[in-house]
Amino acid sequence: MFRGMSFSRVLPILLTGVAAGLPGCAGEETNLSAVNTAIVPGEPYKPLANFGPMDIPADNPMTQAKVELGRQLYYDSRLSGDGSRSCYSCHLVEHGLTDGRAQAIGAYEKQLTRSSPTLWNIGFHSLFYWDGRAPSLEVQAAKAWSGGNMGAGDDVPAIVEKINAIAGYKSQFEDVFAGPATKDNIPQALAAYMRTLVSGNTAFDRWQAGDEGAVSDGAKRGYEVFQKAKCGDCHSGTLFTDMVFHNVGIGYDSSSGEFADIGRFKVTSQESDTGAFKTPTLRDISKSAPYFHDGSVATLDSAVRVMAMGGIPNPHKDIKLKPANLEENEIQDLLEFLETLDEDTAPTSPELP
Ligand code: HEC
Ligand code: HEC
Repeated sequence: MFRGMSFSRVLPILLTGVAAGLPGCAGEETNLSAVNTAIVPGEPYKPLANFGPMDIPADNPMTQAKVELGRQLYYDSRLSGDGSRSCYSCHLVEHGLTDGRAQAIGAYEKQLTRSSPTLWNIGFHSLFYWDGRAPSLEVQAAKAWSGGNMGAGDDVPAIVEKINAIAGYKSQFEDVFAGPATKDNIPQALAAYMRTLVSGNTAFDRWQAGDEGAVSDGAKRGYEVFQKAKCGDCHSGTLFTDMVFHNVGIGYDSSSGEFADIGRFKVTSQESDTGAFKTPTLRDISKSAPYFHDGSVATLDSAVRVMAMGGIPNPHKDIKLKPANLEENEIQDLLEFLETLDEDTAPTSPELP
């Protein structure tokens, strides 16, 4: 399983260190991905950031070689139907791993209906997409590839052949999967890479670790406002998301009484899931404008005000979300706090075979 690599059983091997030893990455001191991660053979993979272990599917164990292969595929627009998009195209560092658009535009310039979500800490989630319709990162990656995002569709077999015809890929697939690239192991490699997109290196994290000078007094007050306003009921824990679905009213049209997008209801057919979407993490939130599943709110200032007002009233709104009655200075402190969640590590692009 760990062929071709030598490992120390004592010291966790940082992916950052390994990246420096890979072809194309020589001398590059910065990260393989955003990686506060370590892989120790025989032990559960766990990011070094203080989040506890991640559930890794038994049939897709993490290895450095697989992560590195997945990273290349993730940045490779040759996977898309028209050669125009890579996974990274819509999950960009400068936009907090989103794309800066209200709603994404896929391969073949296909207009999609939802906003690109951030992928920070996505390996900790168990349901994927805004509505949770994909049950694993492997399934999600396969869907993103064949569906509207990458537009590979019926061309998947031809694209797999194309990948196998590239010598640098062929040898890596042999090494990692003991066989050629397939429509199933490409998503497995992508998923392994995405599990290394860990955000745990923010001013907030340094403050929590004891560095009182890491954040301003305003941000500290803002964290108190965040708690007082019960934002953490849903944007909970160090991940700043409970990873479940709530209706906060975004996309509700009060004149027709309908949602433009019924969200989680489409997956569960539960009345209470009408207009419910997965709570987004607030990590790197200052960079990921525009906001919400439909990108309908342009600035963080406005998004925070919508939430502090208790969302948008509608018959299915989550009762946990109530107007917080914040003063203007409290809103400002809250915004200052949210900026301390900017992630300081960043994935970098690999050299492609
Ligand atoms: C054209 C832009 C675009 C491209 C290209 C794209 N994505 Fe996305 N991604 C999106 C959008 C939009 C969503 C949300 C869709 C939804 O919820 O229905 C999303 C959702 C996701 C999610 C789920 C996040 C969550 O919170 O559940 C993951 C994981 C992901 N993408 C990974 C990938 C991978 C892997 C690829 C390449 C195979 C890819 N994306 C290519 C736009 C894109
Ligand atoms: C009942 C659960 C819940 C509570 C409480 C809550 N949120 Fe949210 N928040 C959500 C959900 C769900 C979304 C996504 C809604 C959508 O896109 O339809 C969201 C979206 C956001 C966004 C936009 C994120 C993005 O990536 O687009 C911000 C910013 C935000 N919330 C801040 C706050 C703040 C600040 C508070 C406290 C005043 C708060 N939230 C309270 C569930 C909650």
